[in-house]
Amino acid sequence: MQTQLISAIDIGSFKVATIIALVDLETDEIRIIGFNQTPSRGVRKGLIVDINKISEVIEKSVEGAERMAGKKIESAFISVGGPHINSINSQGVVATSNPNGEIVEEDVERVIEAARAISLSTTREIIEVSPREFIIDGQEGIKNPIGMSGVRLEVETHIITASTTNLKNIRRVLDDLGIDVDGFVFSGLASAMSTLTPTEKELGVVLVDIGGGKTDLAIYIEDALAYSSSIAIGSKHITNDIAVGLRTSLEEAESIKVKLSDNYNKILQKAKKHGFSKTSLSELKLTREKLDFSLKTLIDEFMTPRIEEIFNLIGEEIEKSGFGNEIKSGIVITGGGALVKPLTLIGKKILGLSIRIGSPSNITGLVEEILTPQFATTVGLISYGKENIMTEGQDRKDFNKILKNLNVDNTISRVKEFVKQFIP
Ligand SMILES: Nc1ncnc2c1ncn2[C@@H]1O[C@H](COP(=O)(O)OP(=O)(O)OP(=O)(O)O)[C@@H](O)[C@H]1O
Ligand SMILES: [Mg+2]
Repeated sequence: MQTQLISAIDIGSFKVATIIALVDLETDEIRIIGFNQTPSRGVRKGLIVDINKISEVIEKSVEGAERMAGKKIESAFISVGGPHINSINSQGVVATSNPNGEIVEEDVERVIEAARAISLSTTREIIEVSPREFIIDGQEGIKNPIGMSGVRLEVETHIITASTTNLKNIRRVLDDLGIDVDGFVFSGLASAMSTLTPTEKELGVVLVDIGGGKTDLAIYIEDALAYSSSIAIGSKHITNDIAVGLRTSLEEAESIKVKLSDNYNKILQKAKKHGFSKTSLSELKLTREKLDFSLKTLIDEFMTPRIEEIFNLIGEEIEKSGFGNEIKSGIVITGGGALVKPLTLIGKKILGLSIRIGSPSNITGLVEEILTPQFATTVGLISYGKENIMTEGQDRKDFNKILKNLNVDNTISRVKEFVKQFIP
């Protein structure tokens, strides 16, 4: 059995999660052998704001996962998200090198390189170049041009960029821990890879990852990533509003939010008997403190306005993308925020689209704890890694791997350049 070790570090605003996985290269099966989650500190809205604090958290999480797996992490795929993420769709065109013969890998590399040539300020870095379709001599909709013949090769790509400062900070932390960056992956894209079905991506779907401090969006149209963005509001903001409204601590507010969400149907049934506005949170045992607020006040006044705001912003992003009429599969919500109740009900009302909650799938091993929306990005990083890492001696036939590898190679070479600056 030929296996490949792949590691992922998901640096979130609420938690840092590390996974070590073994991928069976024959069956494509992903088996998790090490996992750890540690409460995050020093990250706000996806940006590192305190490098010392986040270093400690990442170190703890990495050590935990390494101990469980009995293996050291030498390199890992890293999630990046938050409002510093931008995306743009860019085209490239080249004349094929052998007009009478077949289009070869080198033509594809050249045309993608042409599409990458966007003007970029020094404060931004490309982290993803994802081909959406190829066009050969005017014929559109081609997913894999290698082996076809033609004179003029065009490509439509989706490019994601991130703040150079933030990437540098992450690299510095990982460098200190002796971990190489296999690639920076937009967290929304990683979550999409672990939760969306092929049919959803084909028909058109919006992936929404509601984390602690931010909400990532990835829109797929005709099986290709077409739009990526991130909103600076997450599920922690709902907790803050509960704390302010009930005049209680953040810890108590978090506990109320999670208890309400985990026992939502039971709580509703209980409250129905006496009426929502008459049932207090203390009666429902939602709180350790004596808080004499009604369930109705909690949901309608302290939680709903923020949830509505999140969905209004998601609606604005969908409109901005220009793909609003092409989302036949509706919305898939994931991230820890997807567990908050009654979030999906409010979302359906505001956006008028069907919503399902997405959990990561297609993995085995130590999985029970991991197969929840909170770890969609973490598991997705491993799926991304599986498609991107080429092992020695492996046949370069898999077209996606060739394309993706281009991108990863570039990231790796940039990391090497960055490290070289510090070598005297
Ligand atoms: N069972 C639950 N019910 C309700 N909310 C939950 C539950 N479990 C987790 N959450 C919420 O999910 C949020 C954390 O989500 P997640 O772990 O996806 O964040 P993150 O990835 O660390 O953050 P980000 O992606 O924004 O940087 C917290 O606000 C937490 O309250
Ligand atoms: Mg996250």
